Order: sequence, then C-alpha cells, then structure tokens
Amino acid sequence: EMDKFVTELMKKMTVEEKIGQLNLPVTGEITTGQAQSSDVAKKIEQGLVGGLFNLKGVDKIRDVQKLAVEKSRLGIPLLFGMDVVHGYETIFPIPLGLSCSWDMAAIEQSARIAATEASADGISWTFSPMVDISRDPRWGRVSEGNGEDPFLGGAIARAMVLGYQGADLDNQLKHNNEIMACVKHFALYGAGEAGRDYNTVDMSRNRMFNEYLYPYQAAVDAGVGSVMASFNEIDGVPATANKWLMTDVLRKQWGFNGFVVTDFTGIAEMVAHGIGDLQTVSARALNAGVDMDMVSAGFVGTVKKSIDEGKISMETLDTACRRILEAKYKLGLFDNPYKYCDLKRPAREIFTKEHREAARRIAGESFVLLKNGSIHPGSAEPLLPLKKEGTVAVIGPLANTRSNMPGTWSVAARLNDYPSVYEGLKEMMAGKVNITYAKGSNLISDAAYEERATMFGRSLNRDNRTDKEMLDEALKVAAGADVIVAALGESSEMTGESSSRTDLNIPDVQRTLLEALLKTGKPVVLTLFTGRPLTLVWEQENVPAILNVWFGGSEAAYAIGDVLFGDVNPSGKLTMTFPKNVGQIPLFYNHKNTGRPLAEGKWFEKFRSNYLDVDNEPLYPFGYGLSYTTFRYSDITLDKTVMGQDGSVTATVSVTNTGKRDGAEVVQLYIRDLVGSITRPVKELKGFEKVFIKAGESKTISFKITPELLRFYDYDLNHVAEPGDFNIMIGGSSQAVKTARLTLK
Ligand code: IFM
Repeated sequence: EMDKFVTELMKKMTVEEKIGQLNLPVTGEITTGQAQSSDVAKKIEQGLVGGLFNLKGVDKIRDVQKLAVEKSRLGIPLLFGMDVVHGYETIFPIPLGLSCSWDMAAIEQSARIAATEASADGISWTFSPMVDISRDPRWGRVSEGNGEDPFLGGAIARAMVLGYQGADLDNQLKHNNEIMACVKHFALYGAGEAGRDYNTVDMSRNRMFNEYLYPYQAAVDAGVGSVMASFNEIDGVPATANKWLMTDVLRKQWGFNGFVVTDFTGIAEMVAHGIGDLQTVSARALNAGVDMDMVSAGFVGTVKKSIDEGKISMETLDTACRRILEAKYKLGLFDNPYKYCDLKRPAREIFTKEHREAARRIAGESFVLLKNGSIHPGSAEPLLPLKKEGTVAVIGPLANTRSNMPGTWSVAARLNDYPSVYEGLKEMMAGKVNITYAKGSNLISDAAYEERATMFGRSLNRDNRTDKEMLDEALKVAAGADVIVAALGESSEMTGESSSRTDLNIPDVQRTLLEALLKTGKPVVLTLFTGRPLTLVWEQENVPAILNVWFGGSEAAYAIGDVLFGDVNPSGKLTMTFPKNVGQIPLFYNHKNTGRPLAEGKWFEKFRSNYLDVDNEPLYPFGYGLSYTTFRYSDITLDKTVMGQDGSVTATVSVTNTGKRDGAEVVQLYIRDLVGSITRPVKELKGFEKVFIKAGESKTISFKITPELLRFYDYDLNHVAEPGDFNIMIGGSSQAVKTARLTLK
C-alpha cells in the first residue's frame, strides 16, 4: 500500500520537487511571521523543502505545516525534527549518566516521555539516539553517548528506539505520541584522533566490526527510521560520501530500509575535506546512499545539474525521494499532516508531574558513588548518607546555577525553571536541615577559556569579585556548617559538541576552593558535575566522599537531595573508565592482552607494555560504583562446562546484600575467549541485570550463554564462534569478578 501510494505521488512530481524532498534547511527558532517572509517559507511553498528542524512550539509548527500542505503544489507535509536527546522540557540525565543506570526500562521510559512531550509540541522526528562508542574522555561528546562498551551501547540503542518509536516492532509510529528516531552519528564519530571533535578517524575493519559498529546495528534491528551520517572520514572517505558504509554495510548487510540524513553541513564540509567542489561532493553523497541534506543546500543547488550531466541517475534520485516520502507515510503524515499539531496537548502532556517524578527517579539511578569514606578520620561511620539535621553548606560555582542543571543538548529545556542544587535542597529540607550557600570560586580562572566554553551557550555568571573575596565568603559559610556539600566540576557548556579538553582535572580555582574547604576539618562531600570521566586522583586521596552526579536534568537538584540524604540508595555504575591521568588515554576495560602484558598487581617491569610514571590501572574501572550497602557474590555455578554449537549453558551466582540498607546492584557478566584465530579482548561485557535486593537477603541471578554470545568477526569478517575455552566472569564491576571455565565444542 505504501509502495503504491508513493509511486503514484512520485509520478506527479517534477525533478525539482523530488530534490526538494531531500532538503532540510536550517530554521533555528523561526516564527511563522519570519518564515513566511523568509526564503525558507517561499521554498516551502515551491515544494523545495522536505523538513525543518529545531523549531519549537506546536502553534508555529502547525502554521508552517499549513504552508506546505495548503500552498505547495502537491501539498506534501513536512517533517519537523529536533535534537530531543535526553528529554524535551522534562529533562533526563545526559546520556552518559543515563547509561550508568544500566536500567533499560528506565532508559526506554525516558525516551517514551521525551517522545510524548516532543510530539505534543509538533515534533515528529528526533536526532537521537547517539550511540557513538568512545574511549576518549577528552572528546566533549562522550556526554551524549553511552560510554565505551558496544554490548551495553547496543542494549541502550534498542531501548531508546523503542521508547521513541513504540515498543511494538510491527506497529511503530502508529500513535501521535510516537516519533521517528535517528541513530547517530554513523559511523565511528567517537573515535576521532586525540579526542578532538570532528577529527580524522582511521580504524581497521576488525576493530570497527568487533568494537564500534554494533550499537548502530542494534538500532537498525530495533526498527530505527533514520540514520545520521557522521562528520568524520572512514578509510579516507568522509562517512557522508562513503558508499561502502552507507550502502554495503547499512543497507545490504544490515537491511536498513529507512533514510539517511547528513549531520548539519556534512555535505558542504567535504569541500574542506578536499574531495571536490559542492556539486561533486553532493553527487558523491547521493550516490553513496545519503538521502537528505541537512543545511548544506548541496542537493537543492546541484543535483539537477548532476542529473543533466549524467553524474547522478534519475533512479538514484527517485530512490532517495522515495525513502523520504516513505518516512512521512510511516509517520502517518499523508493521512493527517497535523497528526502532531493538537494545540491542546502541550498543556496536558509537557513537563507534567508524572514526567518530572520519573525524571527525578531516573536521575537518582544515574549518579555514581565513587567514594564513601569515614565521616571523621578514624571513624567507622561513612559520611554518606547525610543526617537530616544541623546545617549543610552547599558551596561551589555549580551550587546555585539553574541553567547548568539540564546539561548539554537540551534544546527545548526551560533553562530558568529548574532548581539549582541549593534551591532544591533548601526546598526539600525546609524545617529539617538548615541549608546555606556560597559560590566560593569562579568555574575556571581563565576568563578567555570561560568565554570559549560558553560561546553560543549558557553564561557561567562569572563573578567580578576577587578569588580571595569569594573564598573568604565560602569559608565563613563553611564555618557555620556541620557538613559541606561542594558542588564542583564542569559547566554544562564545557561538555558536549565542540568542547574537547586536554586537561581533565577539576579546574584550578575549584581545586583551590576544595583544598580550603577540606582544611576546615569539616566533612566534605564532593558533588561532582561532569560530562566525561575526569582525572580525580587527588580527590580520591583527599576527599572523604565523592558522588558523581553528571548533569542530571531538570529534576537533578531533588535527585541529588534524595541520594545525599539517603532516601535513595545510589546504584549507578560507570560505563566509561576513569583514567588516572590524560596520558593513559585511551584507557578501556576491554583491551587486548598484547604479547608483553604486565603481570597483575605490578606497576612496572622492563620490556613490558607499561609506563614509567603511572601504572596501567584506571582510577575507577568500567562497571564500578558504590552503594550505601554492600553485596557479596557467590562462586559461579555452570550447569555444564562443555557446550555444543547448538547448545546453551546457564551461569548462576547468588548475590547477597550484606549491609543494612536495601539496594540495587548491577550484576555484570564478562567473557574472555582464551584462544582465537585473531587476538581477543581480556574481557567483554556479555550480559547484565540490575536487581533490587533487600538488606540481608540473597538473589539468584542466571545468565544464559549461547554460542551466539561468543561470536566475533574473524580476520575475514565472518561472524563466528570458534571452539575452545572461555573464562566466564560475573561480578559487580569489570575488575571485581568471580571466574569459571567453559569449553565450546
Ligand atoms: O543532531 C545534531 C548533531 O548531533 C550535531 N550537529 C547538528 C545536528 C542537528 O542539530
């Protein structure tokens, strides 16, 4: 039926109108008034626009849709896209934080709520999920991804797509609260050299298929409607013009049948990449299998000429146009172009109490307790959770800034409507705890750096007082407190796109503040805001408690209160390794052994793979995170130790909550293939389950292991499970595991 409809429609279309469907111009925050008088509005009426993005407001979107439907010759409706990345107005933690919840139901729910709110405001298409694996915390966009692991990344990709498009695979996008997802950035965008954004990628096929591509494929398998091309090159050809990637892998190997959009000016940027002029690169993109041109206007400007000159076939244009029209058909826009334009929905469905409650709960799940030392030196009592009594001073440049709560890429956020940590704690603890505040320092000492970090973004409200004046005020406030909550770290704008850094310490002025706060002798909880793994060796040594809160979204302040004061027991586990210093990067848990591995527990041995000045270990490994309780793992039981190629084995552990509080634990399964036809990683995540266990109780957790789970891409890129021995490891972090041996026949 879709085929017939689209074929009939395309018969009526001129070449220009077909090319117009491939055009996604920038609108920014246009009003209809501007749109009507602007070039874009005219182009819409001429049928030369396929969609618009990042326009906020259902009334505005309805009016622009009306232009397309009523004023253009064929009345083809527009797609309205937006970067709804971790929530719409109700904002969830940044994706890296969300991934640390390891809670697929919660992650799916966050996307479901985001889709409900965005669709209520006219949006039919989101540029999410971002699933780029990255091992380089210098890259600012690690905040937007799910960390370093492909298996977890694939599970999250699936959860997000189901959340946006609908969980019923055969009936996705049927309802007006389901929107089309766009998995990005295809491919390998997270592997840019030296962690510098938009930088060159050069990677073996072996590494691509075994370590980087799986999350994109998982999104395709979950029915994702669109794919965004990445900015980087692959094998010397920018992804946007890479036919092997866009056609051979994506469509032929994986069976993707949606459409591919460029990332912003990805087409025009290929001129700077040095592979041709705008006409040449536009033709290369279309011929490679890219369907929609975001912003470059390369397709609208040059494709007709290329067709006339025989550089692009009509068939290629038709294929791309068909894919865009099919997307609109799947979204139901031909049945009802105003499907997402019910003006009554926003008031009922956006930033609701229920959505905000979910965001608060999920934010609490994303925090990672990195350290929980003694309340006073020598005491057996841990500092956290805090008691609901006395005076708590919230101090730091991130303690009272509302606009830093939602985090990067929160396009639709109501920046001034979310409480700061200070405001949230004050509200929650009214009548119980006296909450005081001082800023203590600027975010960074260097005003020029700060300016770069806020360019186009949120102001940090740089303080004109001297460092000494701010510190003196903070020490005065600290003197009157029983406990200090130091809200320090990165600002939202120091993370995300175009925010790469080479120094991953807490900025110098904040370190000075922290040292001074510690010298008061009061217990200090470092409440760490960050969009990436930071280097925290000094803090781990000197600060009694560290709670990593990432950027927790619109309800972050309340969630921070929930965890600090013990109403919620932290359960987040890191999905990206925290290195000891920048020189160790890239540092990741699923590395190869090499021919000269360092013996366990050793720092240095001559002629081994190591450093003179730092050991090979991370500060905090992948999978790590503390709780207010403790968990004990039994040994692993395998129901058999030998498995055939058609068989399966069940690995079981019993996990006991040995502390005094109920809590959730992320039980992790890792596997090592001990001998392969190619070298294999020292361990790879192959399963996980988040379980809630009451104090004193035990739960039995089982993982089914099949040959499918043991497969990898061999030298010739065949997906194989090779017979041999495997270590089966289960534990509460990648480094704390029990081990058993399994043989595959
Ligand atoms: O979706 C984004 C992408 O992640 C980065 N460049 C711009 C796009 C659209 O806003």
